[in-house]
Amino acid sequence: MSDARVDWTSSPAAPLRAELRVPGDKSISHRAVMFASLADGVSRITGFLEGEDTRATARAFMQMGVHIEAPGPSERVVHGVGLHGLRVPNAPVDCGNAGTGMRLLAGLLAGQQFDSTLIGDESLSRRPMRRVIEPLAQMGANIGSQPGGLPPLHIAGRQDLHGIDYTLPVASAQVKSAILLAGLYANGETRVTEPHPTRDYTKRMLATFGWPIEFGAGWATLTGGHRLRATDVQVPADFSSAAFFLVAGTLVPGSELLLHAVGMNPRRTGLLHALSAMGADIRLANARELGGEAVADLVVRHAPLHGIDVPVEIVADMIDEFPALFVAAAIANGTTRIRGAAELRVKESDRIAVMAKGLRALGIAVEETTDGAVIHGGRIEAGQVDSAGDHRCAMSFAIAGLVARGPVRIGDCANVATSFPDFIALARGCGFELNTTHGNVTV
Ligand code: S3P
Repeated sequence: MSDARVDWTSSPAAPLRAELRVPGDKSISHRAVMFASLADGVSRITGFLEGEDTRATARAFMQMGVHIEAPGPSERVVHGVGLHGLRVPNAPVDCGNAGTGMRLLAGLLAGQQFDSTLIGDESLSRRPMRRVIEPLAQMGANIGSQPGGLPPLHIAGRQDLHGIDYTLPVASAQVKSAILLAGLYANGETRVTEPHPTRDYTKRMLATFGWPIEFGAGWATLTGGHRLRATDVQVPADFSSAAFFLVAGTLVPGSELLLHAVGMNPRRTGLLHALSAMGADIRLANARELGGEAVADLVVRHAPLHGIDVPVEIVADMIDEFPALFVAAAIANGTTRIRGAAELRVKESDRIAVMAKGLRALGIAVEETTDGAVIHGGRIEAGQVDSAGDHRCAMSFAIAGLVARGPVRIGDCANVATSFPDFIALARGCGFELNTTHGNVTV
């Protein structure tokens, strides 16, 4: 939710060569603050993402009476108030740009003894909330929205929630998590089943915080009425942020980048499979565990790519990486087809429309379909594109500029701060030619 208009210009670059560590995982950072706030005792979070989205979540809990210290960058010490210790917020809770923040909070707040209101920025105010409102209503929650199921959400407290057995109509970790969070406050058993397994942090972190929960690939069952125990959380580097550098290193001739301690949860790393199938040279080194999560160092070297049909089975495992994949496909030899990815239309922007329009403006032939796109690889020309305020589209177009025939000007990039505040500095450190314009001032 950044006010100042920021545009970028990304220009053709010399080989990228660097070692870097991208910031902490956004999904884990949101959840760590939530569970630590509801736990009994003090939890220390290291590697916390200092992005606007995750800071908004931390602010939400501070507003509800949780004492959260920030002893250093990317560190939080959370003094948990227990499952029933949150206080009524003195104003609407502002989730900023964060769908994860709003949807998970909707589940959690549905179980409280007080009323609350969730608001968000312009992009979040256009995102569908019925997907959480409906199952939560089945549990006994009372959540009002704007017409069409849009935010703000007005959540009535003091409802008697009961567990449900819910099969999700779409693969969504946010919906799954909202139901499980409401399930903590519900009578009886809550069970969620997914049409395709998605990121599993909520169920695994609930177990780490001591909540009895059973789960497997694509399902989880818990009962209400237990307690969460404070625990320390080490957040690995976000694979979704690493993804931009994996694509950049692959596309720019002569490049070699080493990315440290990247989260390798298999429900997140679909892009690795897609890029490898396209011919990328990405190697894993030093695979290990960090705070219960698989991590590895990734070495990416330039390699020529060819188009593929992206397997539908890996779409959920790379749902946030499609903007970057669009750019890889744009300079791959041949055609890349994406199907089964209609969810992209309801992300921070309609990512199919925004990426297709932007790449077309740069001379690439792209056909949009309802649930994907057909991208014909070619040469990327200089030009002007609009990121539509979508952080991941902005960073993806910055990669396009590196391999274009001339500068690519990218409009509306301020929201990169929601997930990757240091992107410019890290990108420049690797050799990106990236200038930013704030109003009329270029830096
Ligand atoms: C997230 C789930 C995904 C993803 C988002 C983060 C999460 O959204 O796109 O960036 O942390 O649970 P959906 O649940 O809408 O697929």
